[in-house]
Order: sequence, then C-alpha cells, then structure tokens
Amino acid sequence: MIGVLVSGTGTNLQALIDAGLPVVAVASNRRDVYALLRAREAGLPAASFALDCHADRAERDLMMATWLEEHGVELVVLAGYMHLLTKPFLDRFPERIVNVHPSLLPAFPGAHAIHDALAAEVETTGVTVHLVDEGLDTGRVLVQEELALEPRATLVDRVHALEHRLLPQVVADLCAGVR
Ligand code: GAR
Repeated sequence: MIGVLVSGTGTNLQALIDAGLPVVAVASNRRDVYALLRAREAGLPAASFALDCHADRAERDLMMATWLEEHGVELVVLAGYMHLLTKPFLDRFPERIVNVHPSLLPAFPGAHAIHDALAAEVETTGVTVHLVDEGLDTGRVLVQEELALEPRATLVDRVHALEHRLLPQVVADLCAGVR
C-alpha cells in the first residue's frame, strides 16, 4: 500500500497511478496543487498539511504520518515533494520512503536540479531514485540513469519521461520485496 507526497503538478503521481500500483492516499504540504486534483480524479483520498495549520514542521509531519498510516500506507513515495521530512515522519516509515530526483545525485540536489545542470554545462545528467533520510536529496541510491544534456531544448521533457519510467519500476520492485 503506497502513500504519495506531492507539492506540484503530479506527473510522477500520475505515472504511479497509470502503472496500476496500489496508491491508497496522497498528501501535500500545499493546498492548491494540481497533484491533489489528479488524486481526487483517480478516486484517491487526498489531503493537504500546510505548515500554517500546525505548530511546527515536526507536528505537521507527525499528523501527516498518522493520516497515511490510517489509510494503510506501508511505503511512502515522494513525487515532487518539496519539503524536508523531519524525524517524527522518518521514524514511522524506516527504510520505506523513496524519492525521485532529476539529477545524478549527489550532483545538483535541491529544487532546481535541471536548471542547475544546464547552468553548469555538464555533459550528462539524469534521474535518481533513492531512499530518504534527513538530508536534502541524500540517502541510499536505488537506481540512477544517465541522460545527455544535449539537445538542451528537450532536456526537461527527457528527464520527466525517464522519471515516469524509472519511478514506477522501482516502486513496483519495492512492493514485490525485490529491493
Ligand atoms: C520532478 O521532476 C521531481 O523529480 C522533482 O520535482 C518534479 C515534480 O514533478 N523533485 C525534486 O526536485 C526533489 N528534490 P511532478 O509534480 O510533475 O511529479
């Protein structure tokens, strides 16, 4: 049973849903993101946990973890989730949180990885799927695949296409217990 955390448009969430994976709940740190609409259109429970409704980040994360557990979530997928998770959340899902990131980590962590790779004019970038810890896009790498930076004009689309292939594959493997 998968819970997905989102902060944006949710194309990776859509890829997980379209792959037929057992997504049972979707949560966001933001109220009005398109990803929550996608979840509701797919008939999934979707909730937002905005920071301004909570005392602090740790309390918010605890509430979010509890909500996910109430929906039977065993594996958490960060699909464009743009807040760091605190210990109260991480402790509830040990080794059971994965993130997709649009670079070859440890290169270009953070929220602007594709832009940062373009600005650095590296020859190759790519996509990483990794386990999540308290750091910014750190944690054990599960899979990485490279992409040539050129042609630059299509890089964003190529990164997203690769994410939409890799993330569902890794999540399916985790669900099957083969990773
Ligand atoms: C994706 O490219 C994902 O890799 C990235 O946010 C985008 C979300 O797109 N995540 C990070 O940069 C995490 N540091 P989506 O909302 O369409 O899935």
